[in-house]
Amino acid sequence: NIPALNGIYRYHELIGPVLPLDAAVFLGEGHTPVVEANARLQKKAGIRFYFKNDGQNPSASFKDRGMASALSYIRYLLQQGYVSDVLAVCASTGDTSAAAALYASFLHPDVKSAVLLPHKRVTPQQLSQPLGSGAMVFEVPGVFDDCMKIVEHLSEHYNVALLNSKNAWRILGQESYSYEIAQGFEYDMAGKAVVAPVGNAGNITAIMSGFLKFHDLGIIEDLPRIVGVQSEHANPVYKYYLEPDPEKRCFEPVQVKPSVAQAAMIGNPVSMPRVIRLVAEYNRRAGQQKVFVEEVTEQQIMDWQLRANRNGHVVCTHGGECLAGLVAAKKSGKIAADETAILDSTAHALKFADFQQMYFDNNFPPEYGIIPRDELVNAPELVC
Ligand code: F0G
Repeated sequence: NIPALNGIYRYHELIGPVLPLDAAVFLGEGHTPVVEANARLQKKAGIRFYFKNDGQNPSASFKDRGMASALSYIRYLLQQGYVSDVLAVCASTGDTSAAAALYASFLHPDVKSAVLLPHKRVTPQQLSQPLGSGAMVFEVPGVFDDCMKIVEHLSEHYNVALLNSKNAWRILGQESYSYEIAQGFEYDMAGKAVVAPVGNAGNITAIMSGFLKFHDLGIIEDLPRIVGVQSEHANPVYKYYLEPDPEKRCFEPVQVKPSVAQAAMIGNPVSMPRVIRLVAEYNRRAGQQKVFVEEVTEQQIMDWQLRANRNGHVVCTHGGECLAGLVAAKKSGKIAADETAILDSTAHALKFADFQQMYFDNNFPPEYGIIPRDELVNAPELVC
């Protein structure tokens, strides 16, 4: 099992500055399938599209890509004797913590992990993941943004390794998502659009920087369009880009409301400064505006997730958010009907089964504003 030949390590030269391969932690992450969407679903959406199933990573989300590289770097530091007894910490809405705890447990006892989660805002499946991996799990009253403040304080004042996407090694590993798309489409990114949900904004940061690196190296000629999607219940990035004049834009954190795209329920994304710089650079390099942010409703997220599930795709609410965003972006002209979209299916449906259950039981708390649609609940034969 040679990591150099597998998953994200196929691009190990780009997961630089130094990643000696004997330090690489490989648990099967990366190299996830790109699956063309069912024809009925494409017709309903009115555009050609694929899902890239990052829910098929070891901890069932895309976060494994960045944890593999971040923990490889820690392993390198351990091997060199630069550090010993590492305590890795992160704030999380449930997926970063699952991945962090999993990869840290591989290096146990040299690495231990502690994860901070917003109380009652991660699903039981997500809560079981770090517990199963032996992490210290802290439930914090409040939302993700409150957890983030605590770990930022910890990482500034104590000797801990921060595993949130502020850690540059996380982004380096997550860039492999873009490399795989480029490779999968034979490096032809003309007329392609990559659609991804945006929460703490590490994912969209990595997607943009990955494509920019391939572009720099001359591996791809065209930069694909990038569409970030946010729920109207957690939309700070969308709001920021509503102002067309870059000079007049001003970032304001938002107070989040309960969202079925719960892992992206973040009002003050930690990667926002990087996003602002990268979006400007990406558009400049493309010679036109190629990065957009779209907003969708909670109802649209749930409905599109279930339509995808009905048609053979195990996407979770965040995949539903992508699909709803694709439809909205097509309607608003941000994506043209003749383009081909690649949707980031960031996690496996089973992680968020509770929301599906609430939909079918018709007992969503009113703050979500979701009403189950008859055609999705009662008439399974009526696909789409
Ligand atoms: N989709 C899923 C399934 C996620 O878990 C996340 C983020 C996102 C999308 C948004 O990605 O934050 O890079 O913009 N989850 C983090 C966590 C915040 O703690 O699990 P992002």
